[in-house]
Amino acid sequence: MTIKAIIINGSPRKNGHTAALLGKVREGLEASGCETKTVNLRDFGTFGGCVSCLACKVKGSKCDGVCAIRDGLRPLLEEVKETDILVLGSPVYFHYPVAAVRAFTERFLFPQLDYTNPGVSLLKKKIQCGFLYTMHIPGDTMFADFGYEQTLGATVRSFDLVGSSEALYFRGLTVFDPPGRYAIGKELEDVFTDMKRDHYAEYEREAFALGQRLVEKARQ
Ligand SMILES: Cc1cc2nc3c(=O)[nH]c(=O)nc-3n(C[C@H](O)[C@H](O)[C@H](O)COP(=O)(O)O)c2cc1C
Repeated sequence: MTIKAIIINGSPRKNGHTAALLGKVREGLEASGCETKTVNLRDFGTFGGCVSCLACKVKGSKCDGVCAIRDGLRPLLEEVKETDILVLGSPVYFHYPVAAVRAFTERFLFPQLDYTNPGVSLLKKKIQCGFLYTMHIPGDTMFADFGYEQTLGATVRSFDLVGSSEALYFRGLTVFDPPGRYAIGKELEDVFTDMKRDHYAEYEREAFALGQRLVEKARQ
């Protein structure tokens, strides 16, 4: 059976760090024989989160696990429902996933929730979900102080509803690239340059391995 994966880049930057590391996940997926499709959330027009219309929860609803709002995001929501693997990448903005990723999360997951059977999904199949976060905070201490594993992890864990979830957190990746172009302090700029030099190859290996692991899970 062919395993299919959808890779969603939630970053507004189509060629940023999130896109590059998602590319490594894609290589890992494909090396394990998985069929992949990559999309940018930016290409689905202007969309917001759940508006609490509750059309998907009305008795006898015909929504069948797809958000009732008919906008640009809907075709993607329909497609993700059928995938075996979902890979979602997001930069961290003000300590949380970007707004587009939160909107996607609300619009994809809420229609799957079966309140006649709490904690259970309406989805007929299981989706193995892998998250990839990129952020600029450099060190372990700041990551812990801001409670990133809890706050960012909460969005990740909500995808357990449809199967399984796991996440990678890549630090020290700045949007202020190339060095020298932007009005930021030299000391901070050097921290980012050093982080990338010392850790980026490992990030790429971890991203590749995530792709392979997700295929293994999907085959089980
Ligand atoms: C508006 C904005 C807010 C940001 N907020 C944070 C933040 O709270 N914590 C953090 O570690 N990085 C923050 N960053 C940095 C980005 O998360 C980081 O550079 C990320 O790797 C960018 O991903 P991209 O290259 O795919 O766009 C912020 C960047 C922007 C533009």
